[in-house]
Amino acid sequence: MASTASAPATGHPPEATRRDFLYIATVTVGAVGAAAALVPLVDQMNPDASTLAAGGPVDLDVRKIAEGGQVVVRWRQRPVFVFHRSKQTLASLQSPQMTALLSDPNSEAPQQPPYAANWHRSLKPEFGVLVGICTHLGCIPLFYPAPSATTPVSDWPGGYFCPCHGSKYDPAGRVYSGVPAPYNLPVPPYRFVNDTTLRVGENDASAEAWNFDSIRQL
Ligand code: FES
Repeated sequence: MASTASAPATGHPPEATRRDFLYIATVTVGAVGAAAALVPLVDQMNPDASTLAAGGPVDLDVRKIAEGGQVVVRWRQRPVFVFHRSKQTLASLQSPQMTALLSDPNSEAPQQPPYAANWHRSLKPEFGVLVGICTHLGCIPLFYPAPSATTPVSDWPGGYFCPCHGSKYDPAGRVYSGVPAPYNLPVPPYRFVNDTTLRVGENDASAEAWNFDSIRQL
């Protein structure tokens, strides 16, 4: 069963209020200025309003996500990124050049369920599932999956970039060293109901008791 707790792991109301503000501000800026870079599609299998309001599980047909693309679903009023990673992207996750840039390359901080404490931070390597809220002050990181010499910053290897204060995350949501964000992006509870249906909000059978509220920082 999905957890019914809805408070952020930090549990401090003043911070939650500020995060709410930043969340809204980032969406507004992104919608105006970076629509192509934002992950624009919210595509889930039509949960009814009461399910969303209660923070219940949300299903997604992963066949709708093109390789290299990302879909965002809403779970507990938060964006959840589902990234269909290419073989090239998966190779980058294990490259020494990439891991040398990261603060917690082995996911040692409790920012994910046990079944995502691995090099790809997920159940299936080809699908990354991340709560899309920066662990600094709560903005929504932008999706820049392709390496680039210039965008969003020079020598960009691909991943997520937070526009608020410049934090950077790799394609598995692992945070870079030397940026404001202190932790990797959280991984929510999720499982595959069958080969094609991903359910956000329920744990995989390997760790049914894992509680999302145990993560260190949202
Ligand atoms: S909120 Fe993301 S870097 Fe500050």
